[in-house]
Amino acid sequence: MRLLLPLLLASPLALAKTVDVSSPDGKITLTLSDEGAPHYHVSYAGKAVINPSKLGFYFAHAAPLSDDLTISHSERHSADTTWQQPWGEQRLIRDHHNELAVTFSDPEAAEQSYTVRVKVFNDGLGFRYELTGKERPDYRITDELTEFALAGQDNEALWIPARGWNRYEYVYNRTNTAEAAHVHTPFTVKMKNGIHLSIHEAALVDYAGMTLNQRRPGTFKADLTPWSDGIAVKTKNGFTTPWRTIQIADKATGLLNSHLILNLNEPNKLGDVSWVKPGKYVGIWWGMHINENTWGSGDKHGATTENTRKYMDFASEYGFDGVLVEGWNQGWDGDWFYNGDLFSFTESYDDFDIEAIAKYGDKRGVKLIGHHETSGNVSNYRQQMDAAFALYQRHGVSQIKTGYVADGGNIKRLDEQGIARYEWHDGQFMVNEYLHNIKLAAEYQLSINTHEPIKATGLRRTYPNWITREGARGQEFNAWGTPPNPPAHTPMLAYTRMLAGPMDFTPGIFDMGFNGLGADTNRPQTTLAKQLALYVVLYSPIQMAADLPRNYLAKPAAFQFIQDVPTDWEKSQAIAGEMGEYVVFARKERQRDNYSGKDWYLGAITD
Ligand code: NOJ
Ligand code: CA
Repeated sequence: MRLLLPLLLASPLALAKTVDVSSPDGKITLTLSDEGAPHYHVSYAGKAVINPSKLGFYFAHAAPLSDDLTISHSERHSADTTWQQPWGEQRLIRDHHNELAVTFSDPEAAEQSYTVRVKVFNDGLGFRYELTGKERPDYRITDELTEFALAGQDNEALWIPARGWNRYEYVYNRTNTAEAAHVHTPFTVKMKNGIHLSIHEAALVDYAGMTLNQRRPGTFKADLTPWSDGIAVKTKNGFTTPWRTIQIADKATGLLNSHLILNLNEPNKLGDVSWVKPGKYVGIWWGMHINENTWGSGDKHGATTENTRKYMDFASEYGFDGVLVEGWNQGWDGDWFYNGDLFSFTESYDDFDIEAIAKYGDKRGVKLIGHHETSGNVSNYRQQMDAAFALYQRHGVSQIKTGYVADGGNIKRLDEQGIARYEWHDGQFMVNEYLHNIKLAAEYQLSINTHEPIKATGLRRTYPNWITREGARGQEFNAWGTPPNPPAHTPMLAYTRMLAGPMDFTPGIFDMGFNGLGADTNRPQTTLAKQLALYVVLYSPIQMAADLPRNYLAKPAAFQFIQDVPTDWEKSQAIAGEMGEYVVFARKERQRDNYSGKDWYLGAITD
């Protein structure tokens, strides 16, 4: 007896700990445990959703934070508050959750530790790692070990591939999860037992974007998009990761009615944002995509003073707030895709008189909407950003569409030595670059609509001038895409991309025959009614009427709907739908300025 006692005390297994936290309605439970190694698992209504899944990190110059840690501390909180969005799909958002913070540390080296903070809501959960504090070293993360081990067999998923040349602009796949090898988030799954879930992240700041890599059947591992030198994340004095999120519901529409991503972001940091305005716009845009006009100078140049005035007349007559003008600035001639170094963001082409246009817009009550295409040459843009914003601000511009057209892995930056480095759109470098653009724009009271963006993770709550973004195949693919967007694309967007936040899809194409009516495979695979429904289904606080004015004037009844539909809502509710097949949204307009705030709008689309 006396001999056995010390042996028992030394056995770590005997001390294994488990702590759990449930949603306010008790349906979702996340359990953290140190048995064997730190891990978590999740259940919904008593059924396993995520099986035991690993936690931890590997570093380039520090010992790993993985297997040897045990639970040393835990703390709980709860909250039930309601906050208001300055603009949004819904004015009031309820934040009702239970919180658990658990510290895992090495029993032999207490400074080897991290805290996992979990918030569980009725619509899902988020957890993040916290390694903050003064004594924390500057880590170089080489791997985040977080896993999502899906419970059950034969689950069905909606997904696009990660780390591809076309960023997030892919046709969605609907397959057995077994076929989803390496995917972007939101990654949406319908389990065989009918439970729906979507894995994503919230508040992606100063960290690499997380993709999901299926390492073992059913087990998706965090795969952080690395820097050009292979390091995933470079930190100063420790770090806090974005929230790893899992939205969970018993039916598909439950995912659509979730506000989890917004609730996990920090409140507005910009103060009074009454200068951020939802609204509708037209633009010198589709003409370039269907080859009637060019971005570059010459006979077919779209961005001329005269043409812009015509668009402003049209906008003013039909109640649009702004006119987007692409191709106004020097640098588009030649192959602009490869010429990003040549873009000037302050010098216009000779036939575009920005001053005259701004004055004309003022008279007509229409804003010029700015455009900055970088072709992925972000250092060139960075050098001119202040001057470019100042120019637009001087001319009363309040919104800019930015663009980062470059292949995945081919964002060009110059390092401290002036050497070109090539980065991913979703690595830490670009995560920071996009946010820098937003923060600087706020200083000039400018709102930003990012194309070829980093995925949305709810930062619109913290920086409400990040008004919308692209980040999926948009309408443009219906002009030149091979294939164009298939009919199932937009209902699939509703259950994937749209869970992340607003999208500038640019609906409203009325002329489906511009390639010739016989061109079956290469023309928009859509209907007029569906184009209208997209204004209600695909939420964005700014919506474009993307087609040419003459095509709207040819169909006045349908065009009336675009004139009437609001872009800012009091309340939104997905009322019916099946993952990727169909979706029905009802939205009630928000009381603001000229909106009466009484009407409900209904939008329904199918595959
Ligand atoms: C891609 C954007 O998505 C599109 O809207 C824009 O017209 C082109 N880049 C040119 O900037
Ligand atoms: Ca694009």
